[in-house]
Amino acid sequence: ARSIDLAVIPGDGIGPEVVGEGLKVLTAALPGDVKLETTAYDLGARRWHATGETLPDSELERLKAHDAILLGAIGDPSVPSGVLERGLLLRLRFAFDHYVNLRPSRLFPNTTTPLAGSPEIDFVVVREGTEGPYVGNGGSMRTGTPAEVATEVSINTAYGVERVVRDAFERAAARPAGKLTLVHKNNVLVHAGHLWSNTVARVAEEYPGVATDYLHVDAATIFLVTQPQRFDVIVTDNLFGDILTDLAAAITGGIGLAASGNINPTGTFPSMFEPVHGSAPDIAGTGKADPTATVLSVALLLRHLGHEAEATRIEEAVTADLAAREAGSPRTTAEIGDALAARVAG
Ligand code: IPM
Ligand code: MN
Repeated sequence: ARSIDLAVIPGDGIGPEVVGEGLKVLTAALPGDVKLETTAYDLGARRWHATGETLPDSELERLKAHDAILLGAIGDPSVPSGVLERGLLLRLRFAFDHYVNLRPSRLFPNTTTPLAGSPEIDFVVVREGTEGPYVGNGGSMRTGTPAEVATEVSINTAYGVERVVRDAFERAAARPAGKLTLVHKNNVLVHAGHLWSNTVARVAEEYPGVATDYLHVDAATIFLVTQPQRFDVIVTDNLFGDILTDLAAAITGGIGLAASGNINPTGTFPSMFEPVHGSAPDIAGTGKADPTATVLSVALLLRHLGHEAEATRIEEAVTADLAAREAGSPRTTAEIGDALAARVAG
């Protein structure tokens, strides 16, 4: 498209700082004839304290009209745990049917991760985004007593599993290695596990060029650390995907570099792009936050909107920037953003 109508949710903590740098790099990357229009939405802890609202229906309706959403981070220690996570972030993912939570991992140069210097790591996790234990199907009885019983039911539908598995197969088919690994725990979670395994087996018949593999989630955590090269595309449920992608970030350069896209592949609703990290209230306002994860999320956003060349330019700028950085001399949030914007502008 020759114009981008972007909704921006800076959010809490370091959210506004990293989003500012993300927009700086986005502006630098866009070709002159693509018009960028941004609308900021005041959502997060401040608004909840002021009005008691997390995400009013009217705001959801306005958000729906944009081409895409860029989100910084949500969450603050002054708000009870779960209020903003469920009421804002997960509400957006569910309302806009973000069933593909796309989280790529590449080993970046010059990082101090446990696996720095190992052979190339390049895989993508396709995390289901609208089902699993995240739907909030559960409850507690005799709450607060020694006899309390709490349930948190994982919802897995044939419809929901098949559509995300199909998306993962498409992504695997388009990659050189062409390999898809299902991660679950089907030796214990037999009902949901078999739905996932059977779905992968059935859809695999349509993708003879894609090699499929299965790992229990506990074994997958071992291989992510000891042999990450065995992964190409991973497909998994919402909760396993949440956990695996923090681990994936830790082994490839740290959570400050991990990008994500909450994607509605049908295009019915706007997709939403955000760093995997949280609001880091302990360093908010200090200029210590690394905006790179947000910048890489901007690259995913551009790719989603069809601006492949610009997305690649941003990713190459990040790689070059990391390769050139000097060990032991930390840069501020704005310095990193400026360096990336300069590289992207060429
Ligand atoms: C993430 C976060 C969220 C999640 C939380 C904040 C609800 O950890 O994006 O990975 O669990 O999905
Ligand atoms: Mn997470």
